[in-house]
Amino acid sequence: MKGFGPSTFGELYAEDYDKWNDPGTTDEAVDLLWEIAANRKTLELAIGTGRIAVPLAQRGLEIHGIDASPEMVAELRKRPGGATIPVSIGDMADVDIDGSFDFVFLIFNTLFNLRSQNDQIRCFQNASTRLNESGLFLIEAYVPDLSEFVDGQFVRTRHVGMNSAFVETAVHDAAAQTVEYQRIHMTETGTRFRPLPVRYAWPAEIDLMAKLAGLQLKDRWGSWTRAPFTGTSKMHVSLYEKSK
Ligand SMILES: C[S@@+](CC[C@H](N)C(=O)[O-])C[C@H]1O[C@@H](n2cnc3c(N)ncnc32)[C@H](O)[C@@H]1O
Repeated sequence: MKGFGPSTFGELYAEDYDKWNDPGTTDEAVDLLWEIAANRKTLELAIGTGRIAVPLAQRGLEIHGIDASPEMVAELRKRPGGATIPVSIGDMADVDIDGSFDFVFLIFNTLFNLRSQNDQIRCFQNASTRLNESGLFLIEAYVPDLSEFVDGQFVRTRHVGMNSAFVETAVHDAAAQTVEYQRIHMTETGTRFRPLPVRYAWPAEIDLMAKLAGLQLKDRWGSWTRAPFTGTSKMHVSLYEKSK
């Protein structure tokens, strides 16, 4: 999708991101991340509006962030406690930040916002170089479900009102493992388009990216409450450690 760069997500979604993007698992995610992070100096890649980082900072965690979008970070700054979290504006594939960390995490499927396998591998490699010897890296992502596509596409209605409709369309490229979404909001006053291109990966490929970056799988769960990961899990929370 030409014209969609690392900062485009925030330009399109920041203003009402928190209203429309509540996965319903924020408290559980914060609890598990807090448990894993303990007193570890932590970095969140793609920190966004601080949905997760702000509650962690409020519990006393030293947490830093990277995000490509000044608009998303401006929303983070508005949250109570969000003003003092150190955030670098940059591409998470580069992890261009000073210092080293004991824990790095990248959640809410955001690895897939990097739209090539190379960029995803680069993200793992650069995150790994920022990790101390006993450092941990955590990813949360959905397990791709190709059954939602018919003839490489879908159209689904998200919401209808008396004078509005919210429709999501998608085109799937199975060879590139990419999906280009277009979310279309139609009201009496006009139509708004909000695209989102992603490149998905299955857990096994993600493990291989980790391996290339000198990381090995330590734990994998099928939920933030540590449900076992099985063949029917819709998502995974995967924890990596430096390869021995
Ligand atoms: C789905 S939001 C997740 C935000 C936050 N981690 C959360 O869980 O609520 C995706 C975030 O990734 C950021 N993002 C997308 N591509 C990026 C890139 N290449 N480098 C850094 N941030 C990026 C967007 O600006 C946005 O803040």
